[in-house]
Amino acid sequence: MVNVLFVCLGNICRSPMAEAVFRNMLNDAGLNDKIKVDSAGTGHWHVGKPPHEGTRQVLNDKGISHEGIKARQVVNTDVVNFDYIIAMDAENLGNLRRIAGYKQTGYIGRLLDYVTDSKIEDVPDPYYTGNFDEVYDLISSGCRGLLETIRREKHL
Ligand code: 4NP
Repeated sequence: MVNVLFVCLGNICRSPMAEAVFRNMLNDAGLNDKIKVDSAGTGHWHVGKPPHEGTRQVLNDKGISHEGIKARQVVNTDVVNFDYIIAMDAENLGNLRRIAGYKQTGYIGRLLDYVTDSKIEDVPDPYYTGNFDEVYDLISSGCRGLLETIRREKHL
């Protein structure tokens, strides 16, 4: 089993969107028994809440399920229990690296590293920008690239 964790700040906008989009891609590829996906936030403010209305709206429009997704905070053991820990921006990445310290961990990277020739490195936070459509496009491209990489690295 390959375990993938998407991480943002609040776990209500970007990382639950990535979780839903990636799970949908796994279902389409018939890989949902080989790759598991989850999401978490570095902050604690929204623990237990469903995704933000903007995230739910964009997923509903695309026919992608967000059923059962609830915010949780990153815990120290996440960095050893997940094989790919994928941050949405540089701030999340820094926090994850701090949590990881010098432990042997899964791979920690940023989602847009998986988009060839991406003009930006960070997924902008729609909690502040309100632009959930732009975030959906970036997340879809990143998830496509991530899935290709995992398939290649894990021979799936
Ligand atoms: P997210 O967006 O990190 O994409 O879930 C945010 C959600 C909530 C807050 C910040 C970012 N907040 O400060 O409450």
